[in-house]
Amino acid sequence: MVNVEKFIEKAVQQIRDAAGDEKVVMALSGGVDSSVCAALATRAIGDRLVPIYVDTGLMRKGETDRIRTLFDGNLRVVDAADEFFAALAGITDPEEKRKAIGERFVRVFEREAKRTGATMLLQGTIYPDRIESEGGIKSHHNVGGMPLNIDFKGVIEPLADLYKDEVREVAGGLGLPVEIQHRMPFPGPGLAVRVLGEVTREKIAIVREANAIVEECLVEKFRPWQCFAALVGLGTGVKGDVRLHGWIVAVRAVASRDGMTADPLLLPYETLSRMATRITAEIPGVARVVYDVTPKPPATIEYE
Ligand code: XMP
Repeated sequence: MVNVEKFIEKAVQQIRDAAGDEKVVMALSGGVDSSVCAALATRAIGDRLVPIYVDTGLMRKGETDRIRTLFDGNLRVVDAADEFFAALAGITDPEEKRKAIGERFVRVFEREAKRTGATMLLQGTIYPDRIESEGGIKSHHNVGGMPLNIDFKGVIEPLADLYKDEVREVAGGLGLPVEIQHRMPFPGPGLAVRVLGEVTREKIAIVREANAIVEECLVEKFRPWQCFAALVGLGTGVKGDVRLHGWIVAVRAVASRDGMTADPLLLPYETLSRMATRITAEIPGVARVVYDVTPKPPATIEYE
């Protein structure tokens, strides 16, 4: 656990020192990590912080509108969906996907930096992102997924030594809204790591709907550390009288302290059954729903 007051003081100073007189661009996703970063940086450098929200086309249902409302228009929204889908076309390897996404993020930041005169990049990378990337487990989009040739004078990562629960404590110390403080983690590469194989607009649209149903059924009632839907393949089903080659949706709901290890929630059968009924009834292309009962390790939380 961190001493929150001390951490805030040190982080604000660190950002101030690293930024000097420069302007700093950052991606604000509305999650707890980037929101804490933005609050610290605002204390440190005021309006020399340039926060942008990148709509990758891989976000959850209603997310972009929610962020617009939450930050009350004090945020530039960049619609980059076309370029993310173009960059992902034809890629099936999970690491390649993460690298393509990491690269796109940085290119968008570089463009926005040029436009606004910013020369530094601020990122909400936390400790587990670093260990998992450095340990070769998977390239988190903001660490191992970053291209090496970045057109910035420097990258500032004030949360790089914190675990998620510590970031939440700092969020409390900064007085951020409870809604942000307790939000479920959502990975930077978004729904792309919840679709096995090539990412297409069609698959993302299906997983987005399924994910929204899973969140509706589970978040309030069970308060999981994380819950979501993933598209794991195609299988045979029958809807009406017609055989259907439809998607298999996997539901994941886990308890965890820091994302490094996780245990599946023991959900009531009625809840699972209701979710399966809703997902197959409300999303035409889905034939089957399964519940993932694997802990981490050996499985990771996300599917890729
Ligand atoms: P895994 O799948 O590695 O996930 O067990 C552990 C936690 O990290 C999140 N995650 C990511 N977050 N960029 C992020 O910002 C990423 O590339 C990334 N990959 C996984 C995941 O949602 C879980 O909370």
